[in-house]
Amino acid sequence: MHNKCVLVTGGAGYIGSHVNKMLNRQGYETIIFDNLIYGHREAVKWGKLIVGDLSDIKQLKEVFDKYEFGAVVHLAAYAYVGESVKNPEKYYYNNVSNTLNLLHVMLEHKVNKIVFSSTCATYGEPDTVPITEKMPQNPINPYGASKLMVERIFKDYSLAYGLKFVVLRYFNAAGADSEGEIGESHDPETHLIPLVLDAAGGQREDVKIFGSDYETVDGSCVRDYIHVEDLANAHLLALDYLNNGKEPDYFNLGNETGTSVLEVVESARKVTGRDIKATISGRREGDPAILVGSSKKAREVLGWKPKYEDIDTIITHAWRWHENKLY
Ligand code: UFG
Repeated sequence: MHNKCVLVTGGAGYIGSHVNKMLNRQGYETIIFDNLIYGHREAVKWGKLIVGDLSDIKQLKEVFDKYEFGAVVHLAAYAYVGESVKNPEKYYYNNVSNTLNLLHVMLEHKVNKIVFSSTCATYGEPDTVPITEKMPQNPINPYGASKLMVERIFKDYSLAYGLKFVVLRYFNAAGADSEGEIGESHDPETHLIPLVLDAAGGQREDVKIFGSDYETVDGSCVRDYIHVEDLANAHLLALDYLNNGKEPDYFNLGNETGTSVLEVVESARKVTGRDIKATISGRREGDPAILVGSSKKAREVLGWKPKYEDIDTIITHAWRWHENKLY
């Protein structure tokens, strides 16, 4: 029997809160460690919230002294690509240096299993799609670079200290809890789907289309949108994988389907029944034209199978949350 007590860093955030809910549903006991800078207290409806920062090694040690963790799910990070270009120090400190603190305290307390939230941004501008885990990783912004550094640290710690890890490289997280209890709420909001829904709901006049001259189906950028609940489910499978004594590995999580920015807007018009004004504007710095992932490996090795693959369903859940936002 494996220890079912799990530390979830960043568990008050968008993806972390969905992971936390699912862990609790599956009988895990969770301790959420979050500094609440971007996370929401209201999003932690399950488990126990400890407000703290990974830079505070003393507090971390106290938490690890108090609870006997079987594993850690590490989602705490800054994740604004544009900001990372302007202020890389913030990203390297929080995403890399603070992860070193976490690993230090974990290993000191003999906790050696970790599931890590990485990103398709580690691949940079891919030569071909769908992107497989074996393709070169050349991130084009400090956010992606910070996540890739952590991946590298894991590899070295695994060889030297026996760290057992699963790295999950998310494509574009989207949608909301199918039961409407939690959802996406960023401040500032920079992500496409919430902004499109703001335009549908009248909270903003229009949505800007960042670039119409990419070499894609309609000139706008193409992304692989993956339902946040499907992402969350992969963390449970990753924990099972580690608990079964399997070796460290890396997995892409996407739907293997590319959806353009204009197609997202079109789907939102259909789902909401509202007019959504889309204004063509210039390209956003640091945006690759197409990011679509192959998740064949996650399907085969972890047994992962996304439940909500269709963009209309993803936007339906996002819209339901958007209309009844609790935080
Ligand atoms: N976009 C617009 N208008 C907007 C906002 C976004 O056209 O107002 C476009 C973007 O140019 C991009 C697509 O919509 O082509 C999706 O943009 P998001 O900002 O929603 O997400 P990203 O593709 O930038 O996602 C990236 C990385 C993720 C990372 C995330 C962090 O790919 O790995 O940023 O915020 F986690």
